[in-house]
Amino acid sequence: MVDTPVLEAIGVSRHFDVSRPWLQRALNREPRRFLRAVDNVSFAVPRGTTLSLVGESGCGKSTVARLSVGLYEPTSGDIRFEGQDLAAARADSRLRRKMNMIFQDPYASLNPRWRVRDIVAEPIRAFALLSGDAAITARVGELLTQVGLAPADGEKYPHEFSGGQRQRISIARALSSAPDFLVCDEPTSALDVSVQAQILNLMRDLQARLNLTYLFISHNLAVVRHMSDALGVMYLGRIVELGPAETIFARPLHPYTRLLLEAIPDIERVGTPRTPVGGEVPSPIAPPPGCPFHPRCPLANDRCRSEKPAHIHVEGVDVACHAVQEGRV
Ligand SMILES: Nc1ncnc2c1ncn2[C@@H]1O[C@H](COP(=O)(O)OP(=O)(O)O)[C@@H](O)[C@H]1O
Ligand code: SF4
Ligand SMILES: [Mg+2]
Repeated sequence: MVDTPVLEAIGVSRHFDVSRPWLQRALNREPRRFLRAVDNVSFAVPRGTTLSLVGESGCGKSTVARLSVGLYEPTSGDIRFEGQDLAAARADSRLRRKMNMIFQDPYASLNPRWRVRDIVAEPIRAFALLSGDAAITARVGELLTQVGLAPADGEKYPHEFSGGQRQRISIARALSSAPDFLVCDEPTSALDVSVQAQILNLMRDLQARLNLTYLFISHNLAVVRHMSDALGVMYLGRIVELGPAETIFARPLHPYTRLLLEAIPDIERVGTPRTPVGGEVPSPIAPPPGCPFHPRCPLANDRCRSEKPAHIHVEGVDVACHAVQEGRV
């Protein structure tokens, strides 16, 4: 029997109502306006693996992250956590403690007035996982050690740490409820290049040691290169290419994936891209007709400008592009 994925999204969309106030709409006879932040997205994350989602700012990555831990509800589609409807899983505290999220800015997500030991212990107390101060202190010390800090660091406040150390504290806190599944939304994007590498290595170590499942989100393909089992490339709310990371890095099919890969400076550096993909990302309120990537695509033709490409399978990779389907790539 095939194992149930830890997380599964089936045709998930999330729209935001960005209409102007009612009176202005009524006076100008304007319809409501919806922004399709996430548009019919499907993926699965098997246990103990990492699915990375990449794409430029505004393509819907953080919205997928929030949907995946139940911070947003889908407008349509289903999300399952360990085979159960996510909303039902969230209602059960035994399942809710199994999922957690790590954010980009470790300073904003750590309460500056709390000592680190209380920040890390908060989920343990909230879920009543341990009782007694001695047991909680011992567990917090263990968690801090696990992320490369010292138990004595628990006495300090977040501002006494560097950015990388603060992200280690966020990771200790995320691990304190003994989760199976972590959603990591640009966890290293605010850090210096050398520190990014240390945090990525730590996350990989922890994954192997604790059999964690990651949904890892980044705008930078170089960052996810050594992290990912599977890779999804997002553009304007859709996943345009999805498959084994190794295959996509070796043989990118979608023209957008190709442009993102060409922009990586070199494999070992996770700095700023060499040549960012040309052109602006269109507004998701009024996406271009046909293939939403056509205004920026070097391979666009008339069909691309009028017909939305369907997802097709090419040797284990799911891709939405007419040029691939027509054999023009
Ligand atoms: N709460 C919200 N209300 C309205 N629009 C939103 C909201 N959250 C995100 N968006 C819009 O949805 C799109 C995707 O945003 P986001 O998921 O944050 O992208 P990313 O993380 O890839 O930068 C953007 O156009 C953004 O402006
Ligand atoms: S469908 Fe056409 S416009 Fe879209 S990515 Fe493929 S070739 Fe480019
Ligand atoms: Mg984001």
